[in-house]
Amino acid sequence: MNDYFAARRALIDEALRNIAQRAAAPKILAEPLKRALTSPGKRVRGVLMMAVGESAGCKPEKLADAAAAMEMIHASSLILDDLPAMDDALLRRGQPTLHREFGEDLAILAAVALLNHSYGLVAKNYAALNPRQWTMQQVIKRVVDAVGWDGTIAGEAIDLHSEGSHLDFDTLEIIHSRKTGALFVAAAAVGGMLANMSPAALGRIEIFAKNLGLAFQITDDILDVIGTPEHLGKDVGKDADRLTFVKLAGVEGAKKLSDELAETSLAAIANLGPNAAPLRDLAILVRDRTR
Ligand code: IPE
Ligand code: IPE
Ligand code: MG
Ligand code: MG
Repeated sequence: MNDYFAARRALIDEALRNIAQRAAAPKILAEPLKRALTSPGKRVRGVLMMAVGESAGCKPEKLADAAAAMEMIHASSLILDDLPAMDDALLRRGQPTLHREFGEDLAILAAVALLNHSYGLVAKNYAALNPRQWTMQQVIKRVVDAVGWDGTIAGEAIDLHSEGSHLDFDTLEIIHSRKTGALFVAAAAVGGMLANMSPAALGRIEIFAKNLGLAFQITDDILDVIGTPEHLGKDVGKDADRLTFVKLAGVEGAKKLSDELAETSLAAIANLGPNAAPLRDLAILVRDRTR
C-alpha cells in the first residue's frame, strides 16, 4: 500500500470511528454496529471518492463524511452477502462474520441501519460543500440508483440465482457491473459532484470507475480460487456454483481481462492532469492487489 492510500484510509477510519462513537444506538445494537464500522476493510471505495475529489481540487478531509458513507454502504452489503441465506460465510476481514458473532437478527438490523444513515451523511456532506453545479437531489439519486434494485441489489440477486445460467461475457458484465461496479461508479461520481467537477470531467471519471470496478471484481473472483482465508481474511471457494470470470476465461484469462480493464480505466483519465496522479496509482493498486 502506498503512502497516499494509507493516509486517506486513515482519514476514513477516523471518520468511521467517530460515527461509531456518536451513534445513539441501544447497547444491544451498538456492539455489532461498532464492529461493522471499524473492522479493517481496505476502504477502496472511500479512497476512490477522495482521489476523485482531489483531482478536482477538493481537500480530502472535506469528503470524509461522504467517503465514510460509501464504506458504510459497502459494509452493509458485505454483512448481507455473508448471511447464511446468501453466501453463508464464516470469515470477514479476518474476523468471524457479523451474524456468527452477534446473531442473524442483529446483523441484518446493523446492515440496514448502516444503509439508512449513509444517505444522511452524503446529504450532510453536500450541505457543507454546497457544490454549485449539482443539486442535492442529483447527488443522492446517484447513490440510491447505484445501490438499489437496478444496482448492487440487482447484482446480488442475479448472482445468487446464476447457477445453471448461460456463461458468457455479457451476462457476467450484467452481474458484476451491478454487484460491485455500481458502487465504485457512485463513489467516484459523488466525489466529483461534491468537488464541483464539470459534467465533461465527470463523464471521464465514470468510465474510469466503471472499468476499475469490474477489474476489482474479476480479481476478487481470481482470489476466490487462488487465495487463502489466512491471507484474504475471508472465505474462499465461495463462487463454485456462480458465474465468474475465472469460469469463463480461466485464472490466466481473467487476469489478462482485469489488466486490460485497468488499462482502459487509465486511458479514460489520461487528460486529467497532475492532480489525477492518485487516481492512476489507485488503478495500479487495484490491478496488482493480492488481497
Ligand atoms: C469485497 O470488497 C467484496 C467485493 C465487492 C469484491 P473489498 O475487497 O473491498 O472488501 P473490504 O472492504 O476490503 O473488506
Ligand atoms: C460481494 O461479492 C459483493 C457485494 C457484497 C455487493 P462476493 O460475494 O463475490 O464477494 P466476497 O468474496 O464475499 O467478498
Ligand atoms: Mg456474494
Ligand atoms: Mg460473498
